[in-house]
Amino acid sequence: MTHELPDLPYDYNALEPHIDEKTMKIHHTKHHQGYVNKLNAALDKHKGHTSHEDFSSMTVQNLLRNINKVPADIREAVVNNGGGHANHSLFWEIMSPEGSKPTGEVVEAIKQEFGSFENFKEEFSEAAKTQFGSGWAWLVVNKEGKLEVFSTPNQDSPLMEDLSPILGLDVWEHSYYLNYQNKRPDYVEAFFNIINWKQVDHLYKEATK
Ligand SMILES: [Fe+2]
Repeated sequence: MTHELPDLPYDYNALEPHIDEKTMKIHHTKHHQGYVNKLNAALDKHKGHTSHEDFSSMTVQNLLRNINKVPADIREAVVNNGGGHANHSLFWEIMSPEGSKPTGEVVEAIKQEFGSFENFKEEFSEAAKTQFGSGWAWLVVNKEGKLEVFSTPNQDSPLMEDLSPILGLDVWEHSYYLNYQNKRPDYVEAFFNIINWKQVDHLYKEATK
């Protein structure tokens, strides 16, 4: 299969003033498209080989969950570009112009795991602010169905550790620098205004059913 850039579920300017139109446009059409193109180019190298059949029909999420089955010579390219594709696909869908109140089963689980929603917000924000260099902050469901918060460098996806990401924040400079420059903490704070908790709740239910 050929991997494709998904459409954004809203306009490029829809997340303003929290994330500006120019950043969204470049982020989606240049950065995310770049990961998709490079992922396809890497997988194309094995077209026609028997090993290709093992992974050519896999979704990008399954490719990452089965990263050890991917041929060694393209594994790093799949980690970086498949990770980039999967991470950004999730990122677009867990944001919305209006944001939404933190409600649903996921919020009950958050309160249970972190003591309060505020504690969770603090832990997640800290992970986002302290990730050195490029990377992501995550809220994931682990194999025991419990919630965890951590950050990863580069485009490393939690899917490679068999974890299910349900909320992710891109802290690469390309995601905020035009509007926030060096003020990553302001970007992290603004992100909380545009989280689509309905979608996060949906992903939580999918991951725990
Ligand atoms: Fe990004």
